[in-house]
Amino acid sequence: MTRILLTGADGQLGQELQRTLVPLGEIIGVGHQALDLTQPDRIRQIISEIKPDLIVNAAAYTAVDKAQTEPELAKSINAVAPTIMAEEQARHGGILIHVSTDYVFDGRKNSPYTEEDAPNPLSVYGQSKLAGEEGIQKTSQSLQSAHQELRYIILRTAWVYGTYGKSNFVKTMLRLGAERDEIRVVADQVGTPTWACDIASSIAILGQKVHEQGAPSPLTGIYNFTSSGVASWYDFAIAIFEEAKQLGFELKVQRVVPITTSEYPTPATRPAYSVLAGQKITAALGSHPPHWRQGLRQMLAELYSRQT
Ligand SMILES: NC(=O)c1ccc[n+]([C@@H]2O[C@H](COP(=O)([O-])OP(=O)(O)OC[C@H]3O[C@@H](n4cnc5c(N)ncnc54)[C@H](OP(=O)(O)O)[C@@H]3O)[C@@H](O)[C@H]2O)c1
Repeated sequence: MTRILLTGADGQLGQELQRTLVPLGEIIGVGHQALDLTQPDRIRQIISEIKPDLIVNAAAYTAVDKAQTEPELAKSINAVAPTIMAEEQARHGGILIHVSTDYVFDGRKNSPYTEEDAPNPLSVYGQSKLAGEEGIQKTSQSLQSAHQELRYIILRTAWVYGTYGKSNFVKTMLRLGAERDEIRVVADQVGTPTWACDIASSIAILGQKVHEQGAPSPLTGIYNFTSSGVASWYDFAIAIFEEAKQLGFELKVQRVVPITTSEYPTPATRPAYSVLAGQKITAALGSHPPHWRQGLRQMLAELYSRQT
């Protein structure tokens, strides 16, 4: 492989990908300023100039609550842009790896969501991300009648946190935990916290495999990727403070109080249960994703060493 176009290169996941994709080839990382995904002509221009062997789309409109009042902007970044990427990659035979979310589901199931379960997003953000998945899939299907193939992977992940990027749940808890005695955290939303570094590593493995297989690729399709295990936001907060205290983070917090979603109303509705089944990705990668607590420990150790 020679050229990889990485969008969202300055984001939480994008910065991890800048490292994990190195063995695959030359990375052309573009942040928001270099490539604004609300500009379709610019997306087409940059892809037709570079003709990347692989696009990894880590850019997204990720402000879940704000999206409720900016549906058109969320749609242009999360749905229109990835569809254009799929069309352009199809034109020159390149691969597309696109990142999606557990928020495509409504959370009414009580066992892990498989890739075959029907999505039913509860929020504008979830709707815009689902529309992005559908745009890529429709582009791929329209090519099949012409006996062509788009090699793509849609990787659904969840509850992402990492050392880089603007903010995430772990950083928010550490900030609040240094300021307050008591923190109230939602205990009736269940999912799987996932370290951005683990997602980036799996994307690099998948990208390499799809490239080596050539076209058509048996790996093309939707995959769930989260850490292993299950937690509520409350469980996650408790674990963050336990691990952070052991590492030596200065914390004032004495009590973490479990609350219900109704006690912490937000503009966007989140799924109550969004655990994603990992069988398909485990088979594709040849190994189980690490447990969420292991990723948390590693991330906090990394954050601590960067701060001291
Ligand atoms: N964070 C989570 O909990 C979570 C959960 C499930 C799935 N995901 C998915 O995981 C992927 C990576 O998310 P992340 O956590 O790394 O989010 P992030 O840190 O917010 O990164 C997203 C990046 O996209 C960029 N971006 C936003 N609007 C853009 C535009 N118009 N043109 C170009 N770039 C733009 C942002 O730049 P600016 O900041 O400069 O605008 C940012 O660098 C996304 O597809 C997201 O939907 C995330």
